Amino acid sequence: MANVAVIGAQWGDEGKGKVVDWLASRADIVVRFQGGHNAGHTLVVGDQTYKLSLLPSGLVRGKLGIIGNGVVIDPEALLAEIDRVGRQGLHVTPETLRIAENAILILPLHGAIDRAREAARGAAKIGTTGRGIGPAYEDKVARRAIRVCDLAEPETLADKLDELLRHHNTLLKGLGADTFGKQALLDRLLELAPLVLPFAEPVWERLDEARRAGKRILFEGAQAVMLDVDHGTYPFVTSSNTVAATAAAGSGVGPGAVGFVLGIAKAYCTRVGSGPFPTELHDATGALLGDRGHEFGTVTGRRRRCGWFDAALVRQAVKVGGIQGLALTKLDVLDGLPELRVCVGYRIGGETLRHLPAAMRAQAAAEPVFETMEGWSESTRGARSWADLPAQAIKYVRRIEELVEAPVTLLSTSPERDDTILVKDPFED
Ligand code: IMP
Repeated sequence: MANVAVIGAQWGDEGKGKVVDWLASRADIVVRFQGGHNAGHTLVVGDQTYKLSLLPSGLVRGKLGIIGNGVVIDPEALLAEIDRVGRQGLHVTPETLRIAENAILILPLHGAIDRAREAARGAAKIGTTGRGIGPAYEDKVARRAIRVCDLAEPETLADKLDELLRHHNTLLKGLGADTFGKQALLDRLLELAPLVLPFAEPVWERLDEARRAGKRILFEGAQAVMLDVDHGTYPFVTSSNTVAATAAAGSGVGPGAVGFVLGIAKAYCTRVGSGPFPTELHDATGALLGDRGHEFGTVTGRRRRCGWFDAALVRQAVKVGGIQGLALTKLDVLDGLPELRVCVGYRIGGETLRHLPAAMRAQAAAEPVFETMEGWSESTRGARSWADLPAQAIKYVRRIEELVEAPVTLLSTSPERDDTILVKDPFED
């Protein structure tokens, strides 16, 4: 039985929520494998709107949710989210949610460091969500992080807090921010322990059993390939690997278990936070895309930057992300635009490149090379078959497939779950 991994192919917010929700209804288990509560998915189910940040989307569909070891977990945010969805009638229990015992915890000091550093960067800020994601991953690789399993060992917690505070209080002092005391942190962690530990287990074992039983597993990515700490527009990226390969290491399965890799891309392009965005529009068309596409961050509420579809960028994401099929979302936002542009490469100095180079100044200097296409005047909103689409819209989609070197396997034409043109079921690969 094939599994499926879903990842973003641009800079996040590609409309993963709807696609993941649809796929979750066909899966048995949904696994988060990287990121933390910097992600945001809005799911509309019946008359309820769920805003999920850390919880795997499948919970809304009554599927087992797993938070893998690659995720960084803020226990306060986790419990608040469980409480919030509980008040909406979705009861998350240790029967419906399992958390990797070896996942890393985000503590209040991580958020404090994140925000203090951003403030110190001034105009050069990354535009992080300020939720402590980066500092928590830094502690992981520095081998001083507190993990979920440590909550069961008060002495380990106390020792690790000593080391953490030595490091972070020095930094916080240097940044002119408030420092943290050990006792308050320890007391709070010990209060949280009995609330979090019932969810903890070696999830790799459960996933192994599920695989052998032929269960369908959906790996739910957060952020997107261009925010990947290796392959994205570094340093304007998040602090985890967002490519599909991470689904394996971030949940404790082998690479062969990941299955079909579905990349999600908007029919245009958006970005929150700072960093290069070669096709960004600063004109009325950019504002129109933002208004029509309701381009405001789920987590930050910030206005997203908008621009033309960047096929060179998505092609790069297809290659490094291992994307085998593309889900193209929000095609309807382009309805009525007389002319569309698609970026096919970049001009940097005297050179033309088909990919975005890695160096910062080169990325910032990249001028898009556009191909211009005729738009369509008809509405594509709610289309459920190719026959419902105007010829020009089909041409646009076909050209994107050629340029990014991946087939469009799913086309989403409105926020409604059923307004989808399915070319191929990723679970049936
Ligand atoms: P961090 O993940 O909070 O460290 O933020 C690093 C960069 O990733 C910033 O540009 C954020 O705006 C961006 N980012 C983080 N999570 C998301 C997301 O879910 N969608 C889009 N951008 C995100």
